[in-house]
Amino acid sequence: MPSLQGKTLLVTGASSGIGRALCELLVERGVKVLGVTRHPAALSEEVLPIEADLTRREEVSAIFQGLGKIDGLVNCAGVAYLSRILDGTPADWEEMWRVNVMALALCCQLSLKHFPAGGGRIVNLCSMSGHRVPPSGGFYAPTKFAVRAITEALRSELKAAGLPIQVACVSPGYVDTPLLDQYFRGREDALSQTRAAMKMLDPEDVAWAILGILEAPAHVEIADILMRSSGQMM
Ligand SMILES: NC(=O)c1ccc[n+]([C@@H]2O[C@H](COP(=O)([O-])OP(=O)(O)OC[C@H]3O[C@@H](n4cnc5c(N)ncnc54)[C@H](OP(=O)(O)O)[C@@H]3O)[C@@H](O)[C@H]2O)c1
Repeated sequence: MPSLQGKTLLVTGASSGIGRALCELLVERGVKVLGVTRHPAALSEEVLPIEADLTRREEVSAIFQGLGKIDGLVNCAGVAYLSRILDGTPADWEEMWRVNVMALALCCQLSLKHFPAGGGRIVNLCSMSGHRVPPSGGFYAPTKFAVRAITEALRSELKAAGLPIQVACVSPGYVDTPLLDQYFRGREDALSQTRAAMKMLDPEDVAWAILGILEAPAHVEIADILMRSSGQMM
C-alpha cells in the first residue's frame, strides 16, 4: 500500500463531519492537509486553511490560484435539505446544486493541473441517495445522482486523455454529523426517531473508507464504496 506520508491533499468540507474526521486521519499520517471552509477557526490543528464559500464560483476558482502541487483532492463539502419537488424552496435547491454539484465539478476540473505527472486521486462524497431516491428526499438525491455521473464522466475523460489520475465516490447512508440537523430541519421528531432506531455511521467510519481509496495500490481503482449502518433499512 503506498504511504501518504509527505503527500499534500486538498479537502473541502474540512471543518465538520466526514471532512473533519478525514483531515485528522490524514494529519496523523504525516499528510500536509489544505482544508477548504468558510470557518477556518473550526479546522483541526495542523490543517492549513483555505477560506472559500463554495456557492460562489469566483471563490472556488480562487482556491486554486497560487496553489502548488497536490497529490489528492477529496470533495467532502455538501449541503442537504429535505426540500421536496412538490413544494420545496428553490433557494434551497440552488444552494444544494451549487455546493454539491457545481463546486464539486469545478474543484475536480481546476485541480487537474496541480497533480504531478505521476497522477493522484480524487474522491467525491456521493451518498446512498445517489443510488436510490428516498421517498421524502426531494432535491437532495438529484444532486447526488449528479455527483455519481460527474465522477463516472470524469473517469472516462481522464482515461481518454491518458491522465493517470483516479477518481472515486464514497456513498454512505446516514452518518451522524451536523448535516442531519440541517436535513431534518423542521422534522426534528423524525431525526430523533431515526437516531433511536439505529446506530448511525460515525464520520470516522466514512473517513476510513476514503483513506482506503487513497491508500490503495496504484493499479487498484476503486469506483465507489456503498456503506450503511447495519441498522439502516434502505
Ligand atoms: N451525514 C450524512 O448522513 C451523509 C450521508 C451521505 C452523504 N453525505 C455527504 O457527505 C459530505 C459531508 O457531509 P457531512 O455529513 O460531513 O456534513 P457536515 O458535517 O454538515 O459538513 C459539511 C461541510 O460542508 C461545508 N460547506 C457547506 N456549504 C459550504 C459552502 N457554501 N462553502 C464552503 N463549504 C461549505 C461545511 O464547511 P463550512 O460550513 O465550514 O464552510 C462543512 O465543512 C456531504 O457531501 C454530504 O452530502 C453525508
